Order: sequence, then C-alpha cells, then structure tokens
Amino acid sequence: MPWSIRILRAFLGITFVFAGAQKFLDPNFFRAGGGDYIGTQLAGFATGTPAAPLMRVLGHAPVLTGVAIALVEIAVGLGTLAGIGMLATSLVGFAVNTTLWLSATWHTHPYFLGSDSIYALAWLALAAGIVEVERARRGRVAGPIERIDGISRREFARGSLIAAVAVALGVASKALAAPASSTGLGALADPTRRSAARSSASGSSATPTTAPSVAPATPGRVLTTLDALPVGRAVGFTDPQVGPAVLLRLANDQVVAYSRACTHEGCLVGYDQSSHILVCPCHGAEFDPAHQAAAIAGPTRTPLESIKVVVDRPTGDVILPA
Ligand code: FES
Repeated sequence: MPWSIRILRAFLGITFVFAGAQKFLDPNFFRAGGGDYIGTQLAGFATGTPAAPLMRVLGHAPVLTGVAIALVEIAVGLGTLAGIGMLATSLVGFAVNTTLWLSATWHTHPYFLGSDSIYALAWLALAAGIVEVERARRGRVAGPIERIDGISRREFARGSLIAAVAVALGVASKALAAPASSTGLGALADPTRRSAARSSASGSSATPTTAPSVAPATPGRVLTTLDALPVGRAVGFTDPQVGPAVLLRLANDQVVAYSRACTHEGCLVGYDQSSHILVCPCHGAEFDPAHQAAAIAGPTRTPLESIKVVVDRPTGDVILPA
C-alpha cells in the first residue's frame, strides 16, 4: 500500500477513534444543559443549514444520536487503522464529515476554515486510493483469492471484532466519565414568538407598548422592542448578510448584536443567562458580549463578528439598519 494512503489511514483512523472516545468521556456531551450537550449542538446545526431537516429529526433523540455518532466514529477509526473493510469505512467517514460540513461547520466562512470540508475530502481521497490499489492488485494477481466484491468468513469475523471493540470502548469510556458540571445554556428565544415584539418596520398597532406608533427614525428592520427584551436577556434573529445572530440587552442597558457563528469552526453559540456569556456547544469557546464579544475561553482568540443595531428610544424599537 502506498505511503500516501498509509498516512491518510493513520491520521483519519486515530482522529476518529479519538473523537468518538472523547464524546463518551465528556460529562456534558450527554447531559441536557451541559456546555456542549449534543441536543444543543443539534439545535444549532438545524439553524439555517442544508442538513436542517435531518438535524431536526435527530434532535428528537439527542442522546441516542450522540451515542450512535460516537460508536460509528470509533468503529470507522478502528477499521481504518486495522485495514478492515477500508472502502466501506472511508465512505462512511466521508458521509459523516459531509453531513457535519452541511450542518456543524456550514456557517464557517471561508469554507476551508471549517475542518469538516477538509476531512470529507480526505476520506474521499482515501476511498479513491483504495479503489486504485485494489484495481492495480487485481491486474497483477489473477486467481480465485483475488476478489473485492465478496466478504470472506475471516473478514466478517474481523469486522465483528471491530464492532465489538467499538462498543466495549464506548461503554468503558462512559463508565470512566467524570461527574457532570453545571454550565447550563439559556435558550435563545425567537423574537417572532414574542407577542410584544414587532416583526416589521411598519409599526403595528397591536404592540402592547406605551410608545407612540410612529415610524422609527432609522430606516431598517425592527428586530424587537426594549419592552420585549429585558436587561440581561438575548433573542435570536437572522441577519441578511451575516446569517444567524444574537441580540442582547446588557446590564448597562446597552443593546448589542453579534453573529452566532463561532470563530473556531462555525458552530452556533448560545447564551448562558446565568453567566451572561455566549458559549459555543462544540468545543467550549466563550465570548463576552459586554466586551465586543471577545473570546475569553476555548480554542479561539477571535471575537464574534459584531452587527450594528440602533435603538429608537422614543418608540423603544431595536432596529437593524437597512
Ligand atoms: S466551533 Fe469549536 S469552539 Fe466553537
């Protein structure tokens, strides 16, 4: 087997085993309210991505989905390292990373900063290399022992062993997991569900506010009103340029808005109402909305992208300028 394929196998195999085991070892991954809870991640993956319908379905059984993903990653990783069913494992790896590309890292710009696109292509390159090696070998050796379509008893036994080891690793990792910590995330409310919020700049008379019903001084889209956005709270909205975004009213009454796309790999951050911090559910990055969304923890040092919003004090409207 060429060294190019061996290198790909080693890197992808080790990475997938590590990623799967890490999920079982993470006390927050399976715990609702945990910093990187799989349910929160799936909800974020379902926001404005091509894989949203699939993510919504999986979101009905988040823990089961998390366990399945971790087991698949371990099985694919072990199979790749051991050289068992490599074409199948590389195609499964390609499917996993392509799905993550279309969901978890979909909001990463430019696209090549999201690791899943690179992993998906690495799996594809590995699959193509394996097919070429098999073709070349088939051309050199003609005989009954050379076949790539069927599965021998020996291969079946080795595959079963891999599956058993994957399950055993998962169970062992889960048993070793540390006690859960408490970093619950506050949900991002949808401004369209708030009865007090206005959904357009037309100045609806149905809004229960004492402010006069006049057109806002700043032309643009009314995201919500100060009445509907208490101090210390956050609401989600979609910015036409930036995509999923979050609007917050800080303790000093300042209203700020940021992109929800984490500057690490593009997962959508959520708002922790107890600590007033924006938290990424994927790898734990934290951003301080009171300080230009500066990164204060996790694997990135880049702040979230800031979005300009204007508060029209006479009406209380919070406006996204046109
Ligand atoms: S995507 Fe990795 S910390 Fe946010």
